Amino acid sequence: SEDGSHFTWWPLIWNCIFSICAFFVTSKVIPGFVAIFIQAGFFGIDMSKKDQTVKVAEAMGVISGAVFLITMFFFIPIPFAWNLARMSFVQHGNQSTAVVAFPHHEFVEFITAILCVCTMLFLGFADDALNLRWRDKLFLPTIATLPLLMVYYVNSNSTTIIVPYPLRAIFGFSLNLGALYYVFMGMLAVFCTNAINILAGINGLEAGQSLIIAISVAIFNLVEVSGAYREACVFSLYFLLPYIATTAALLRYNWYPSRVFVGDTFCYFSGMTFAVVAILGHFSKTMLLFFIPQILNFIYSIPQLFKLFPCPRHRLPRYLPEQDQVTMSTTKFRPQQLHPLGRLIYHIFKRLRLIHVTKPADNVASAQQEPFLECNNFTLINLVLKIYGPMHEQRLTILLLLFQVVCSTLAFLIRYPGAKLFYDV
Ligand code: UD1
Ligand code: MG
Repeated sequence: SEDGSHFTWWPLIWNCIFSICAFFVTSKVIPGFVAIFIQAGFFGIDMSKKDQTVKVAEAMGVISGAVFLITMFFFIPIPFAWNLARMSFVQHGNQSTAVVAFPHHEFVEFITAILCVCTMLFLGFADDALNLRWRDKLFLPTIATLPLLMVYYVNSNSTTIIVPYPLRAIFGFSLNLGALYYVFMGMLAVFCTNAINILAGINGLEAGQSLIIAISVAIFNLVEVSGAYREACVFSLYFLLPYIATTAALLRYNWYPSRVFVGDTFCYFSGMTFAVVAILGHFSKTMLLFFIPQILNFIYSIPQLFKLFPCPRHRLPRYLPEQDQVTMSTTKFRPQQLHPLGRLIYHIFKRLRLIHVTKPADNVASAQQEPFLECNNFTLINLVLKIYGPMHEQRLTILLLLFQVVCSTLAFLIRYPGAKLFYDV
């Protein structure tokens, strides 16, 4: 056809080949940069190890991210090769005009998606270098999505959603969310980036969960590729395969015992990649299904994130050197001094046995002050430790990653058989 809607599997096959190369390049390059990063001050101390003097290179996500971008840069012409080869120009005096239609809208989406990931990688690295404040972490991903939202507006501007059966009596068959839809997409980027960052603190967890999400979404795209949204799925796979390859290489070094830390750079870069493919692939709701553990962790964390409950700088599990195991980390508080809402949440959580509260033996109530209590930090990692007791760090990572896999399976069950209850699919 002349309109550029020609389809072949070749670009995807080339993408696979590029991704395999990207895996080996990342694997090769990371060790070489460890010393350079430590030299430059990009290092952290692994808090769950006996030796607290070993420097572990931090922000290594910038390497996997850079290899990802380079792979994408080389890949840019390939999906458009068919169009490029058939493009001929007619000369009118000084002007030359393309005769065969080139899919400019697809091309712009592609370039903008790369721009957004690139921006986020840069902002993430800035965060690792400068240790930005909490509110900047919300602000940065919003800024980085603006170009994408602009392209979305120009290209499709579809802000209409199909209403699920139970709600159709109220809203009708479909609902145009208008500007709200853009707010939702902006928030998706903020959520994806930060949700991965706060489910962190043990070796291999950040990269591991991101890898499982990416593989799950890639499987979802492969299933859907024969359907009506083929272009969107293929587009998403172009990004996900190199992402999976570079992240897998990073995970090799981040796995227990970590030789490198991924840094906030990686969390931002990952979250943005997911947000970009979800927005341009029009599957934001399905994307969120693959974030179930992150959503649970976020909801559980809300009291601490919004300062309704004391939140220490680090909420990662506490290391027990004698047993070489990790256990729940805790925070101290006095119930009467909590924010009223925080106190309410505290009582609800205690009732639901979501938290473990103890009274430290060494503190006696004085005349003026009630004694302080101690309870675990509100993270999914600590919740797992509350349920199963102290365990070895690697075991804990594996357990949490298995939970991520189970949730992905659940996501497929909800997406396929489950969706029939709410939509006609
Ligand atoms: C987030 C979490 C914080 C958690 C931290 C761990 C919230 C609001 N913030 O903060 O509670 O403690 O991630 O990454 O939930 N580290 C290890 N082992 C690891 C990974 C990291 O000891 O496997 C330590 C290292 O000292 C490393 C540091 O964590 O330098 C990195 O923390 P950073 O990513 O800067 O913390 P935040 O993302 O701000
Ligand atoms: Mg972090």
